[in-house]
Amino acid sequence: MALPENFIYELKQNNPIDSLVSSYTTLKRSGHNQVCLCPFHSEKSPSCTIYNDTQSFYCFGCGAGGDVITFAMKIENLSYIEAVKFLADRAGMQMPDEAKNNDSSRIKARILEINRVAARFFHDVLTKYPEGEKGRRYFRERQLTNATIVKYGLGYAPDDWHKLHYYMNSKGYSDEELVIANLCLRSRNGGVFDAFRDRVIFPIIDLRGNVTAFGGRIIDGSGPKYLNSSDTPVFKKSRSLFSLNFAKKSDEKRLILAEGYMDVISINQAGFDNVVATLGTALTSEQARLMKQYADEVIIAYDSDGPGQAATHKAINLLSDAGAVTKIIKMEGAKDPDEYIKKFGAMRFKQLIDRSDGALDFEIRKCAVGLDLETEQDKSTYLRRCVKMLAGISSPLDRELYISKIAKETDVSRETLAQQINGLIKKNINAAEKNSKQEIETFAALRRKNPESVAHPKEFKAEKGIIAYLAANPDGLKYIESRISPDCFVTDFNKRLYEKMTEKIKSESYYDIMSLQSEFSADEMGKITEIIVNSKGIDINRLALDDYIAILNEYKDRDDNVGDLSNDDFLQYVDKMKKLK
Ligand code: UTP
Ligand code: MN
Repeated sequence: MALPENFIYELKQNNPIDSLVSSYTTLKRSGHNQVCLCPFHSEKSPSCTIYNDTQSFYCFGCGAGGDVITFAMKIENLSYIEAVKFLADRAGMQMPDEAKNNDSSRIKARILEINRVAARFFHDVLTKYPEGEKGRRYFRERQLTNATIVKYGLGYAPDDWHKLHYYMNSKGYSDEELVIANLCLRSRNGGVFDAFRDRVIFPIIDLRGNVTAFGGRIIDGSGPKYLNSSDTPVFKKSRSLFSLNFAKKSDEKRLILAEGYMDVISINQAGFDNVVATLGTALTSEQARLMKQYADEVIIAYDSDGPGQAATHKAINLLSDAGAVTKIIKMEGAKDPDEYIKKFGAMRFKQLIDRSDGALDFEIRKCAVGLDLETEQDKSTYLRRCVKMLAGISSPLDRELYISKIAKETDVSRETLAQQINGLIKKNINAAEKNSKQEIETFAALRRKNPESVAHPKEFKAEKGIIAYLAANPDGLKYIESRISPDCFVTDFNKRLYEKMTEKIKSESYYDIMSLQSEFSADEMGKITEIIVNSKGIDINRLALDDYIAILNEYKDRDDNVGDLSNDDFLQYVDKMKKLK
């Protein structure tokens, strides 16, 4: 699908790369550029750079790179055309007409329609049909009001292998579509049957109001307590949050994070509309960043049992990494918020929220678990745990505060504590630096695995030089073309890149190398950006260019270039490359 070049040009003008990136991660200025923790792999020190001059990004850690469109594709998991649409929406631009319909967006639209019809079916069964009585009784027992049932569009899937299946068929939806939507499963003999049977249904609704997936809770019988749709073209579990569609409209500046569907609905029914939950999986960094987009503070209201507390600990870390302030609800006398609200009422729950501890108090209390602080030995264990924990806190102010607190509590001088903590911080920093170096090296080694480039390092470098030169001097094409042909390129990828660039420059639709976007995958755009980034600051003049051209011509003129390197030579090359890094 070709979009008019001037449209793409305008799209990029209206979506400066740093403005998009900064809505996912925090940017720090570094010289002319900006750096950030790479949103595409996990790291502790920033190796992702945003280049404002070329409107591109490149991660030295994982090799992700490209322009604002590549970034949108990768971070939102979109196809090229969807990313363009996403950015157009973001900038308030109209898509050119011919681009509106393509295959993948047609499939998505179809699945969303299927989900909407199915949600309506489940809801009608629950609220109107005789076989819905079981679901009605269940929700009555759990004290949900009719208003809540309507608000969340809750439903019931009958105890039948084909109720939804046949209903959807009668509405014109094929078996295959139902399987793609994850509403039906395919049996070994090829037939399909309903995925949700005899379960109450929780539709999952995205920020645009689309039904993207379903969760279903068992009423009795066997099987997992909750069943959740797996990922489909319209649903990615790791970046969805249940009830975010309501929470984002809340006036509250903070979000409550609960463990599951029923807790969320209970809390919401009790008058707190700013509550969300993950969908049967632990919190992911993507979800943490998503929450940070809507609130600076997150109150974690997980179950009070062991697993709930362990999950709390993980969530604190992810949310802090995303830049959110976290607080933790301390629930006593109930295992989860749903039970707490039923037992003690909404007012008491409100007090819990308002009195929720800072994440640090939670962590400090955890340091004391299982210890008797009256004994010297346990006290010293406690102090050691506290020192370790506080050394991991990035805010010096917070650290100071808690050092005072612990010093008072344990009768140890503030200075001693501070000294210990600072020592550990230094050690941690050194270790982190070493780690991040290693991290970069591993990734670099992985990327270098491209055997062509390993077997022909000199030619590979020459190719990249020529491409970088051409990228900066499209006018130089005539000169280059008169001296080499695409066939002189040794590695397939660079050859294809060179050909595409030539094509674009000739058709006069070339304005920068990033305009090749539609011809290359997001991963390939990473490689292209790498070439440009690595050539930054290096003056590739005509002389250097001539050298590069000579290298490629020389290689071509060698008659033994077909057999390439022997195994031994190849291994030697690999060794040499390793030492070079
Ligand atoms: P819980 O077992 O704590 O359930 O699981 P709950 O939310 O208190 O539900 P009720 O009150 O028994 O109905 C918490 C969350 O973990 C996921 C669900 O998202 C659930 O809401 N879960 C749990 C599953 O995905 N599958 C399971 O089998 C169990
Ligand atoms: Mn529960």
